[in-house]
Amino acid sequence: MISKQTIDKIFSTIRVEEIVGEYVQLKRAGSNYKGLSPFHDEKTPSFVVSASKQIWKDFSTGKGGTAISFLMEIENFTYPEALRHAAKKYGIEIEEDQREYSEEAKQAHTERDMLYKIHEVANNYFQEILWDSEEGKSIGLSYFKERELKDDIIKKFQLGYSPEQKNAFTAYALEKGYTKEILEKSGLSIFPENTPSGVDRFRERVIFPIHSFSGRVLGFGARILKNNIKTAKYLNSPETEIYHKSNVLYGLNQSKQAISRKNVCLLVEGYMDVISLHMSGIENVVASSGTSLTTEQIKLIKRLTENVTILFDGDNAGIKASFRSIDMLLTEGMNIRVLLFPDGDDPDSFARKHPQEYVEKFIENQALDFIDFKAEILLKEVGNDPIKKAEAIRDIVKSVSFVQNALKREVYLKEVSNKFGLSEQSLFNELDVQKQITQNQTQKAQIKAEAQQPAKLQIVDEPRDQVDPIVFNVTKLENDLINHMLNYGDVVLQRTTPDEQKYEITVIEEILHHFEEDDYEFQVELNKRIVDYIKEGIEKEELRKGNFFFGLMDEELSKAAVNSMNIYSELNDWSTRNIFSPNYGDKIPEQVAGDILIHKFRYVNFLILKTKKELADYADSDESKYFELIKKIQMLTLVSVELSKVLNYSAITGIYSDR
Ligand code: GTP
Ligand code: MN
Repeated sequence: MISKQTIDKIFSTIRVEEIVGEYVQLKRAGSNYKGLSPFHDEKTPSFVVSASKQIWKDFSTGKGGTAISFLMEIENFTYPEALRHAAKKYGIEIEEDQREYSEEAKQAHTERDMLYKIHEVANNYFQEILWDSEEGKSIGLSYFKERELKDDIIKKFQLGYSPEQKNAFTAYALEKGYTKEILEKSGLSIFPENTPSGVDRFRERVIFPIHSFSGRVLGFGARILKNNIKTAKYLNSPETEIYHKSNVLYGLNQSKQAISRKNVCLLVEGYMDVISLHMSGIENVVASSGTSLTTEQIKLIKRLTENVTILFDGDNAGIKASFRSIDMLLTEGMNIRVLLFPDGDDPDSFARKHPQEYVEKFIENQALDFIDFKAEILLKEVGNDPIKKAEAIRDIVKSVSFVQNALKREVYLKEVSNKFGLSEQSLFNELDVQKQITQNQTQKAQIKAEAQQPAKLQIVDEPRDQVDPIVFNVTKLENDLINHMLNYGDVVLQRTTPDEQKYEITVIEEILHHFEEDDYEFQVELNKRIVDYIKEGIEKEELRKGNFFFGLMDEELSKAAVNSMNIYSELNDWSTRNIFSPNYGDKIPEQVAGDILIHKFRYVNFLILKTKKELADYADSDESKYFELIKKIQMLTLVSVELSKVLNYSAITGIYSDR
């Protein structure tokens, strides 16, 4: 594991503008840099890098972070992988620290590394066998040749062959010093009790390595050669620490550039479909590899484009099952078209039969939007039955209800109305019904998911209508105060005591003092953790503002800190408090004092409400406790009145008001 000192050194050496600059063309814009988002196709730059704060923000996707989190985002690195990558670039030597981490964490980390390694070894092995061994050449390579694959495409996709011998790879890997445990964990070998030499998972099959976004081998798909044998045509790697099939798309690594360049992603089913299309020059294609499409997979595509064209064989039995994928793609805000190949053809055979230009034109001209596609499939079955026809239309409107953008939704609805000669009004009514149904379903699913997961901790403003407004108000100000500490913690404030004594205090100290004085209970767990770190810093005479948190191994915390950093130093709704200041931070002394006051006021009112709720519990049971609470409420109410006077006074004098 990387030592804390090394992490600090990495963060103090690397420059976000240099690291990002390798992926994005940056132009100076005032004190910042601007460029086109690498995560989203756009024409006007909305990607901003702040050299002074060492952070970036992508306004088109809402992502943001440090140089390290940029590497994690763009290369699919884990945190330590991104650190190592950056260290290498800047020639920083990595110092390993074993003590800080538990045995379990250490092991988990090395296990992941070992899994990557063993897959790399296996991938090289299968290719070597394919190209260099007699068996590989006469069986594996000749199979690929029969399917008309050219050498360069076999190499591009790193296809391989696993020999017939029961434990060929296992023996090879053991000989090289890899352990049985890791071989078993990777799924590449099995060690039955009576066979200590082990058995290979893949035998006598051609091998398709499955790569991550950034090109590391995560697992394999392996195809049987003899079609008559009664066993699964494809055997795939099992789920492992590094291979989660719902998070992977076959071909994404080889296709990512073409997808973003062409701004559309073709979605096919099989390994061979991806490979054949590449061979004919169509390189913007990925496969879901037999599984139904997942949200994670859609998000992978969405990093590159919002346009997807689904390609089906004409005689595909799973077409109706694809309706679910369509709805999921729509929910993720994707634009979809669907293409059915003529009967008997799949993307693989079609691409081999026709030249590139023809295939491209065919896809372009024949792909239908999802409404026409669903209509074609569904109406084929209904004949003249009006009830069935109504059901089919309802089914189409249901898909429209998944479209997130209201304008697009309306356009689609108009299309349905024209197509079926139905009034828009009745379709709108149906749409409302469908939206209600899906909303209820997603809500139920969310509640279920939340019940199964520990609470998510995030410094975010939840929408007002979903939380108790009193709690919302307290939390909002709590977040603001944390943001002040992270952004301007070391700013020195000139203050005067009520008896006219002048003194200096930093923003961090003033806000900490406020939290401690009021024995404040944090509404957001992460905020409490941030404050604990800051307090620890004070004890060591360090002022820990935002940058301090960037280098913590605690990803959740460093992410929260980055998110609360303001790249534009803008002032949000400060004008509602009658302060018209161009920049957040320009009036930091007033802002801090004002926010502390408002926070205090809101917190006191929050406590009053909370105590009133408690009252009910003791009304009949415990008289002394009851009166104690009454007294507390009276006292808090007094404080609240006093505070509201101060706040109103400030409002009159044009400084603060709580609105
Ligand atoms: P070819 O038959 O060689 O053209 O392969 P293909 O890639 O076109 O396969 P097909 O269209 O039959 O299936 C689509 C995808 O589903 C495959 O690429 C595999 O990912 C997956 N698949 C097909 N058959 C099996 C199977 O028997 N087991 C598993 N696990 N996956 C399969
Ligand atoms: Mn096929």
